[in-house]
Amino acid sequence: MTYTHRHLLGIEPLHPAEITTILDLAETYVEQNRSGDKHSDALRGLTQINMFFENSTRTQASFELAGKRLGADVMNMSMQTSSVKKGETLIDTALTLNAMHPDLLVVRHPHSGAVDLLAQKVNCAVLNAGDGRHEHPTQALLDALTIRRKKGRLHRLTIAICGDIAHSRVARSNLILLGKMENRVRLIGPPTLMPTGVAEFGCEVYDDMKKGLEGADVVMMLRLQKERMDGGFIPSEREYYHRYGLDAEKLAFAKDDAIVMHPGPMNRGVEIDGTIADDINRSVIQEQVEMGVAVRMAAMDLLARNLRAARAA
Ligand code: CP
Repeated sequence: MTYTHRHLLGIEPLHPAEITTILDLAETYVEQNRSGDKHSDALRGLTQINMFFENSTRTQASFELAGKRLGADVMNMSMQTSSVKKGETLIDTALTLNAMHPDLLVVRHPHSGAVDLLAQKVNCAVLNAGDGRHEHPTQALLDALTIRRKKGRLHRLTIAICGDIAHSRVARSNLILLGKMENRVRLIGPPTLMPTGVAEFGCEVYDDMKKGLEGADVVMMLRLQKERMDGGFIPSEREYYHRYGLDAEKLAFAKDDAIVMHPGPMNRGVEIDGTIADDINRSVIQEQVEMGVAVRMAAMDLLARNLRAARAA
């Protein structure tokens, strides 16, 4: 099975075999990125534009590095100094850039569905770098690659996703992906941060960390997304840490070899204890960042192959 899509807008439309295709190709890029020569030619002659309407460190830096390592011409649009600030709409901005013949558009936007809408208006491949609470597909793919490498498989694992589920596109993409790959997914968090309708994804829901973490192979912590909160979702950060922050006492309920993940950026002392985050025997947070470059190289490589095939047809 190859990757059959024109864009990468979410995990939802992907077949499990397509997920495996991306992860297998990413493995080759892990090796390339660790070698003396990090460059290859998969995107030579192509132009990649990164449009981030929301702040980012990991995703933007890794998409830029990924494109450059594959030989693309990469441009980072500075949305803070663009004509968006004069009132130009997302679609008009995209159409303007589309007229410059980019081949790959990488877009992050605060509104769910904005990246899908944009993809309908342009004639290049679009990669969703996170849209509102909807999806963050490359984050879920890099998390999957990290889990597969650390656990030796990506099926029949018990994976606990903990914290602010309601506002998290990372949680949504992960629970879709991990469900497709036949894992047991548990969501743990206060009822105020649990979206309605999660049962349709076939996951188990807990509001008690210790019960939810019992026997888990993977513990995935989430950031409190204060920028998406318009009310009092938690009594206080101190209380939240006491009940839902990952510390050694709570982690002891997971399996002895359970790995600890966090997509970043982290709020130390709010959702995770700093010593757990830095414990190289448990935490794979830095590996997640490394896998991010490789997964984004693989995704852009596959989209570029489809783009070239469509243009040649
Ligand atoms: N995980 C993640 O999306 O991080 P950034 O917001 O720094 O890109």
